[in-house]
Parts: sequence; C-alpha cells; structure tokens
Amino acid sequence: MTFFIHTYGCQMNVRDSEAVSALLVAAGYDPAEKEDDADLVIVNSCSVREKAEDKAIGKLGLLCATKRERPGRIVGLMGCMAQRLGRDIFVNVPKLDFSVGTRRNGAIPSLVARVSAGERGIAELSSPDEIPDAPEAHADLGFSAYVTILLGCNRRCAYCIVPDVRGREYSRPAREIVAEIDALARRGVREVTLLGQSVMNYGRMNPVWFDGDAPSTHGFTEPFARLLEAVDAIPGILRVRFTSGHPSGVTDELVCAMSTLPHVCHHLHLPVQSGSDPVLKRMRRGYTREGYLEACAKLRAAMPDFVLTTDVIVGFPGESEADFEETRSLMDAADFGNAFIFKYSPRPGTPSAAWEDDVGDEEKCRRDHVLLADQDRRGQAQNERLVGSVQHVLAEGRSLRNASRWSGRSDGNKIVVFEPRPGIREGTIVPVRITRAAPQTLYGELCP
Ligand code: 5AD
Ligand code: SF4
Repeated sequence: MTFFIHTYGCQMNVRDSEAVSALLVAAGYDPAEKEDDADLVIVNSCSVREKAEDKAIGKLGLLCATKRERPGRIVGLMGCMAQRLGRDIFVNVPKLDFSVGTRRNGAIPSLVARVSAGERGIAELSSPDEIPDAPEAHADLGFSAYVTILLGCNRRCAYCIVPDVRGREYSRPAREIVAEIDALARRGVREVTLLGQSVMNYGRMNPVWFDGDAPSTHGFTEPFARLLEAVDAIPGILRVRFTSGHPSGVTDELVCAMSTLPHVCHHLHLPVQSGSDPVLKRMRRGYTREGYLEACAKLRAAMPDFVLTTDVIVGFPGESEADFEETRSLMDAADFGNAFIFKYSPRPGTPSAAWEDDVGDEEKCRRDHVLLADQDRRGQAQNERLVGSVQHVLAEGRSLRNASRWSGRSDGNKIVVFEPRPGIREGTIVPVRITRAAPQTLYGELCP
C-alpha cells in the first residue's frame, strides 16, 4: 500500500507530516511519488485563515470523488482543521475515512489498519492538554530538519485559533530533544530549526531539565537559553535556528546565547502583527510598538549582522488608515529582512470574531499590496548594503530557477545564488562574495 500526504500551513504541519511519513514507513507502507498513485492520501490541514480551510475541504472532496474509480482508496485528515471541526467534518465530507486531532498523530497507522478492516468515519480527537504521542520520528532527510520542542500556545491573541486547535503549551524534555538531534546529526543533518508557536517560552510551563542533566557551561538559567547551548554543542550540527518568537522572549540571556553560541544563526522571526498601539492592545499581543522596537534594538546591538523577519496582519477590526501608517513606519524602523503579510480572517470562537470585520476585502488587498511594495524596497536596500560582503552559505544544491547554479541560505536566512565549483558538496558551509542584490535574493561568487 502506498501513501501521500498533502500539507497545508506552517512549519509545524510540515514537521508533523514528516513524522507521520516515518511512522507509516515503519508500519510497512511505501511513500508514493505522486498523489495520483497513492492508495492512502492524508490531508494535513491549517485553520489559521478561512481560505486555508476552504482549500483543504475542496481537496478532500476531490479526493473522495476519486474513490468511485478507486474503491479501497483511503482518505484521511489530520492537523488543525481536523481538531477544530471534530465530527462535523463528516457532514461536509461524508466519505472521509478518518480524521485525527493534533496530538494523536501516532495513532494514524492503527487508524489506517482499522479502515482497511472495514471501519469508516473514525474521529480520533485530542484533548487540549494531553502529552503528544510519537513526536520524534523522522523520515529520510536531507541536511536540514525541523524539531518540535514546544507544542500548543497559552497566549490568547484575539484573532488566533491556534490555542484552540493545538492545545495548551507543553515543552518536551530537553534530554529527549538533544538525543533526537544527536541522532539526526549522525544521519547527516547539519541544520536544525527548533519549532514552537511561542518557542522562547520553552520550559516555562512544565519542567524540562532534571536532576542529572549537565549544568549550563555559560551559566544560563533560562530553559530556552540552556537548550540552545546544549543543541549548539551537538557534534555535526553547523546551524541552529528557531521559530516563531515573541518579544517577551527576547531576554538578556537569549540575546547573549544568540550572539555567543557559534552555531546559532543571527536571524529571528518575530511576528509583530501591527505597529499601532491601539491595535496591538485589541489584538492582546502583550507588547507595545516601543517594546517591540526595544527588543529589536537589543538584538541588533549584540549582533551587527542580525536579520529580523516578521508576520503582519492587515485589516484587523477597527484598523484605521492612521493605524496602518503606524505599521508602515514600524516596519521601516525595524528594518525587516522579510515580511509575511496576511489579510485578517475572523476565526470562529476567537474573541475578535465577535467584532465587526469592518475593513473590507478591497481595502485589505490594498494594504497588503502597499506593505509588500514597501518590503520589496526595504529588502532591495538592505541587500544592496550586503554587496561586497562575504556570506557564509549552507549549500543546498541546484537552484530551482536555474539548474546551472546552486543556492543556499546565509546565516541571516537570505537566499544566496552562486556558480558551483567541482567538488562542492551539499550540506557544507561555503563563503560567497556578494556581487548583486534583488529584494529577496543575493547573488555572488564562491570565494577562492
Ligand atoms: N487572520 C489573518 N492572519 C492570521 N494569522 C493568525 N491568525 C490570523 C487570522 N485570524 C497570521 C499571524 C500569524 C501567522 C502564522 O498567521 O500573522 O503570525
Ligand atoms: Fe497565535 Fe498568538 Fe499563539 Fe502566535 S502567540 S500562535 S499569534 S495565539
């Protein structure tokens, strides 16, 4: 039996799909090259915006329609929408075989076996505070891997569905994470990205270090800084990244860990969402414009080459033209290296869903375009300042756009395109002198 997993949404979902692939392979299923070839198709869904859910439901409908020509084909759902909708999904998609909640992915092989044995319409939901099963399985990997360190989210941002669908914060024991990354490094992984919704909250809600764990060599006391130190020291790991951040996590220890640990990259994804204080307050983000900029200043003071990226929501209820202009000016002041812009989408059950969605789709689109154009200009100016510099690039292999070139990422997570040289190997860090800049890409030559 062959399987294919169709993934929507964020890196968490990419990681969960990879873990489920590994579990299915271990249970004797083979990965299919294409969805069309697969006997089992699983859709890993996202609930963060309505559009993402519509796409997943559309996809499930199409997949279930193929069962007419392919009796015996199994279609399953996992991820945030599975958790949010529970049994209601079977009203929309009656031919769906199973649906599994965000903390029960380990059950998928057994659910598939039950469907193969004749059961239908199985919903396996998780409760918000249960400890997830099997988070550590990894499929065949390149040299870069995601590792989930913290699940769920205890913040209650007014617009966000994540706390409902991913449950309460739970941090995995540090020992387990270090062992997992050590095993990955032995399999050739060189770069790890530690994942969590509010990743710097690691270890704040439940204990993660225990008697017998080695003390911090830098004297760190905060659990996340200690974890960075431990991961940084794993033989074979050349780069450590983490995402997403929240300004409350930008402590002196975190800044010290980022700037002194040799393998920790000088890049942070720190979603700001808005640059207007009244909007931030209604969003319940827990910081002000000034607080956010102070966190940036601390990071930049310690790391002159630091790159900051962000998420912004346009058209939040009540966002005025003046609020929007505050966001534009904050984005300049923070000098973001990249920004993901989202049009506000009310999510059922969140506090802001009760407020009028009053900005209107056309105006949201306009604000989206304005911010994207600003970001292009900012990215271009920022990248031009890097022309002439040497960037250390983790070589990923052939560039997707032009197969005669190679690409990779700089320490600051910028895409760098360069001419390869005979003998160059994927998964090594190479020095590249930058010769040309585009808003999202740097071009250069390998240093002799
Ligand atoms: N509408 C639009 N964007 C949202 N995000 C989260 N919830 C919503 C919503 N209801 C965005 C935020 C977050 C990113 C992952 O998705 O910017 O950082
Ligand atoms: Fe959502 Fe806020 Fe949690 Fe991020 S921190 S996932 S925006 S609730």
